[in-house]
Amino acid sequence: MAETHLPSTTLLCIFVLFGSALVVVESAIGVNWGTVSLHKLSPSTVVDLLRENNIKKVKLFDADPGALRALMGSGIEVMVGIPNELLAVLSTSTTASDLWVGQNVSRFMGKAGVNIKYIAVGNEPFLTTYSGQFQSYIIPALMNLQQSLARGNLEGTVKLVVPCNADAYESSLPSQGAFRPELTQIMTQLVSFLNSNDSPFVVNIYPFLSLYGNTDFPQDYAFFEGTNHPVADGTNVYYNAFDGNFDTLVAALSKIGYGQMPIVIGEVGWPTDGAISANLTAAKAFNQGLIYHILSNKGTPLRPAVPPMDIYLFSLLDEGAKNVLPGTFERHWGIFSFDGQAKYQLKLGLGGGLLKNAKDVQYLPSRWCVADPSRDLSGVANHFRLACSVADCTTLNYGGSCNEIGAKGNISYAFNSYYQLQKQNSQSCDFDGLGMVTFLDPSVGDCRFLVGVTDSNSPGFGLYCRWVIVWLMIYWGVWILVM
Ligand SMILES: *[C@@H]1O[C@H](CO)[C@@H](O)[C@H](O)[C@H]1NC(C)=O
Ligand SMILES: *[C@@H]1O[C@H](CO)[C@@H](O)[C@H](O)[C@H]1NC(C)=O
Ligand SMILES: *[C@@H]1O[C@H](CO)[C@@H](O)[C@H](O)[C@H]1NC(C)=O
Repeated sequence: MAETHLPSTTLLCIFVLFGSALVVVESAIGVNWGTVSLHKLSPSTVVDLLRENNIKKVKLFDADPGALRALMGSGIEVMVGIPNELLAVLSTSTTASDLWVGQNVSRFMGKAGVNIKYIAVGNEPFLTTYSGQFQSYIIPALMNLQQSLARGNLEGTVKLVVPCNADAYESSLPSQGAFRPELTQIMTQLVSFLNSNDSPFVVNIYPFLSLYGNTDFPQDYAFFEGTNHPVADGTNVYYNAFDGNFDTLVAALSKIGYGQMPIVIGEVGWPTDGAISANLTAAKAFNQGLIYHILSNKGTPLRPAVPPMDIYLFSLLDEGAKNVLPGTFERHWGIFSFDGQAKYQLKLGLGGGLLKNAKDVQYLPSRWCVADPSRDLSGVANHFRLACSVADCTTLNYGGSCNEIGAKGNISYAFNSYYQLQKQNSQSCDFDGLGMVTFLDPSVGDCRFLVGVTDSNSPGFGLYCRWVIVWLMIYWGVWILVM
């Protein structure tokens, strides 16, 4: 018996070592949690969703106290964000940076607190379309924030990063990659700052946008299943846009003397609706291909066997209130729909199997608002426009999942989206008598007529509860004093 004992312990030991080695690799996949939504899930539902799916890294775009409170004690590694609009004040005032760090980071750290690992200083601040308006704030803001972190004894735990769009660098061949000429100086300062603080370079890479914006972009090059259009770069050959883009950054970093800088992918993903190439099949193929590619540890020609440190999928949930200037697909990046339901089967490679849906989602009652079939709808155009100007109707667009439901279907879809947004308030289905409430789900095929979610466990409710408790305590305190 003793003989078999030793080998089995050794086996167990090997298993544990091997298992933990796997965990290290697998932990590289995280998600972006954006909240520009019309129907918000409660933060605790979202954190449960992360937990159910073994997601251990999350990136936020702000430092919403509701989200941070829900993340307390979860152990999930968090990147909080500083919106570009705050950069100006943070670049000029250490009082402001002390306050920001105090209110939005220090307050949540510590035992059973939030595991805040990164602060994203701005979001794509060098984006070409911003015409340089945030550029000069970045380095001074980083300096101030670093001092504030040091004053709070957090500089060893919390790292500053600056998520950049891939438009910060350019080249037709990866090996020739360089930062945009007007950014060379600031990028050199930034990367030197990151390097001296052990922070990675964070970049957002979107093969979807290359395909969307470019009719002659070879479709199969956007994915990971091999291509008829490989890109030959000297002796290196590229089989997918992601690797090509990644190595263009590696070359740009080398050019300024930081070829070994660790790289984190801050955003990467594929939308599912609102444009022709935004569909479930393509999104699943891209995201699954990406995850397997990253977890294979193959790396790229310029960084063999060194994949990005971490990648954050864009995105966890659909965000129905996002600006659609870039395209109507903008509201459909989620691997889950707005209500936390998996849109397609995906293995995140985190040991949790296929995606698991959010639990205990609080829906409004199962009813919908549609166009009354007995009415003449000729005067409906203004109602349609108004409804879609506040609610989300982007699935009706060319390439969208509801594009082919006909004129009447269109109107019903708009009515319902508006009605759900108004929390099914009965007047919101009136439309001068053209709307009617139905209890039969009007969804057709892939075109889903949504039912809204309630936010009954929102922070507002919690605040109210705290008020009641405080009042009760005062009441009892006074009563005890009187006794
Ligand atoms: C903390 O972050 C939130 C969200 O980004 C922001 O609105 C707030 O102003 C921040 N606090 C300070 C003191 O800057
Ligand atoms: C989905 O998108 C892919 C990628 O662009 C495209 O090849 C395919 O035709 C689309 N499928 C549908 C059903 O539109
Ligand atoms: C439905 O609405 C969309 C978006 O406004 C439009 O592109 C489409 O042509 C409409 N369909 C019909 C049949 O009117």
